[in-house]
Amino acid sequence: MRPKVTVVGAGNVGATVAQYVVERELADVVLTDVIEGLPQGKALDLLQAGPIHRYDCRLTGSNEYRETADSDIVVITAGLARKPGMSRDDLLFKNAEIVKGVVEQVARYSPNAILIIVTNPLDAMAQLAFRVSGFPKHRVIGMAGILDSARFRTFIALELNVSVENVTAFVLGGHGDTMVPLPRYSTVAGIPITELLPKERITALVGRTANGGAEIVNLLKAGSAFYAPGASTTEMVEAILRDKKKILPCAAYLEGEYGISGLYVGVPVKLGRKGMEEIIQITLTVEENAALKKSAAAVRELIDKLKI
Ligand SMILES: NC(=O)c1ccc[n+]([C@@H]2O[C@H](COP(=O)([O-])OP(=O)(O)OC[C@H]3O[C@@H](n4cnc5c(N)ncnc54)[C@H](O)[C@@H]3O)[C@@H](O)[C@H]2O)c1
Repeated sequence: MRPKVTVVGAGNVGATVAQYVVERELADVVLTDVIEGLPQGKALDLLQAGPIHRYDCRLTGSNEYRETADSDIVVITAGLARKPGMSRDDLLFKNAEIVKGVVEQVARYSPNAILIIVTNPLDAMAQLAFRVSGFPKHRVIGMAGILDSARFRTFIALELNVSVENVTAFVLGGHGDTMVPLPRYSTVAGIPITELLPKERITALVGRTANGGAEIVNLLKAGSAFYAPGASTTEMVEAILRDKKKILPCAAYLEGEYGISGLYVGVPVKLGRKGMEEIIQITLTVEENAALKKSAAAVRELIDKLKI
């Protein structure tokens, strides 16, 4: 039997996750949304791409949770996306209401699932899902760092005119303006970019990365990025379902790691069939540590507003 992945929210990110998951034949997919016909229509359309793209996965759409029962993974993308001029944090209260309602249903129908949270503001929504579901921390993980580091990798590859496959990048912290890219751990064919690029170019690339989501929101005008977010989420789904033990930057609940407690923040984790199997700790410089603490404080502010 193929694994089962539910994607809640059949909008731009959700539908893209569904597409990438079936294209890799990772799982059967149930798409759900509050809009009648939307998940059914997109699921049927994607199903009909199967004979051409050669996948046998089942896709179904639903406005109810019964069909999501016993999912292995539930990806939560339900909620509002940013419009030009909005920060991720502007979405806080509306999306908190949506995510709370969704997680209550998901936890009821799939009590053993691993939750991947995508809805913004990401770290706060992951923490809300963790509290509402009552699931252990290894089964509630937020997607952000993979996207942020993919953006950084893209800009590094463009700058140096090298293959993206040669570039790795390391990003810590909350998803937002306070994210903390670590250039000394970002490499091209194993060489730290600090050896390959002058400081001011690295600063420029870091700035573009931190602003990467807003750059796309400003271009699209209606809605926010979804191809790279969909790909990043699918990487998590694959690492879990294939038990890859892959080290990826994700939002995880910290209990003392990096000197932070009781908070979801982006850190390198090991993803495998059990979910978030380990938090990888590295030694930070004084400046990096200060930047991470500042990022965590920004997440804490949202958590305090939500009183969770
Ligand atoms: N973590 C990240 O890195 C990242 C990246 C991109 C987008 N996002 C976030 O993901 C979310 C979705 O973005 P999008 O571009 O797909 O938006 P979208 O508007 O295209 O889709 C959101 C969907 O959620 C549905 N929805 C709303 N309330 C619901 C509910 N209660 N139950 C089920 N479905 C519900 C809507 O009907 C809509 O179809 C946004 O909050 C966005 O900010 C996060």
